[in-house]
Amino acid sequence: MSDIEQLVTRATAEFAGIDDAATLEQAKARYLGKSGSVTELLKGLGKLDPEARKHAGAAINSAKERIEAALNTRREALRNAALETQLQAEALDITLPGRGLATGGLHPATRTLERIEAIFRSIGFDVADGPEIEDDFHNFTALNTPENHPARSMHDTFYLENAPGLLLRTHTSPIQVRYMETHKPPIRIIAPGRVYRVDSDATHSPMFHQVEGLWIDEDVSFADLKGVFTDFLRNFFEKPDLRTRFRPSFFPFTEPSAEIDMSCVFCDGNGCRVCSHTGWLEIAGSGMVHPNVLKAVGIDSERYIGFAFGMGPDRLTMLRYGVNDLRLFFDGDLRFLSQFR
Ligand code: PHE
Repeated sequence: MSDIEQLVTRATAEFAGIDDAATLEQAKARYLGKSGSVTELLKGLGKLDPEARKHAGAAINSAKERIEAALNTRREALRNAALETQLQAEALDITLPGRGLATGGLHPATRTLERIEAIFRSIGFDVADGPEIEDDFHNFTALNTPENHPARSMHDTFYLENAPGLLLRTHTSPIQVRYMETHKPPIRIIAPGRVYRVDSDATHSPMFHQVEGLWIDEDVSFADLKGVFTDFLRNFFEKPDLRTRFRPSFFPFTEPSAEIDMSCVFCDGNGCRVCSHTGWLEIAGSGMVHPNVLKAVGIDSERYIGFAFGMGPDRLTMLRYGVNDLRLFFDGDLRFLSQFR
């Protein structure tokens, strides 16, 4: 094999054995650089006679091309290998879960109200609303509540300064009145909302929620009240064996009236700390709507009859989530609230 062919073989083998680009470029210089082997050979051509120069020149050029080809092949191989390494190092696991944005959530009191609304809607009740700043007529007078009733005392209720006769509603019952003023029976509504009283301790807050219920038609009975309310509680707590108890009571706007108790959801009525060892939890006031209330809103009390109830959904929230201080719900502490997201 001629020197030139050996040169090609050597260069090709050398290039193939090199693993990094810088070393490869140095090797290139040794063959094709200014004083590289191939260049030296070309320089020597001048000493040859014309005929020999022609042959040698062709052979050297062919060798040069093949050495360049070997160089380029190796360059490309090294580039591909480098790219492959980089791709592996920077590989993304697209199956990893995203980081996620912090989102807000519904307040537990709101969740409870939505749950109550969904249950009552499913049995054909509409949801009604009314103002939180009420007048004396809707909060008291139309509800058959006499002048001297204790709830009307300045100590028990928030009255508005400079606005005689206006107060923060003490219950959701005025929504009954407003609804009956504008709708004819049959009437079947619940009315959730904020109410206000001068009260503050672990189980009482000056602002709390109530949900009013009202069903007026030609033959609504106390049995319907028992059925509807008991069924509601069983649905709400998902406890088909939950029991209710109706204790005789008094409200000016219902007759007869009853407090509704339910069997304690923590001990199933056996007695525990939550129910003060009675097995029962007080959950609502209720009764058959007093004829005077129907008269106050212009509904024929000889033809129509019905029941009303007013329950404390905050109590339901505490029981459902096992929270024992009502104030936590209204302090706005995100460490507490974000647990319900
Ligand atoms: N409004 C009463 C209260 O706040 C509850 C109630 C509503 C009682 C409807 C009877 C009927 O205590």
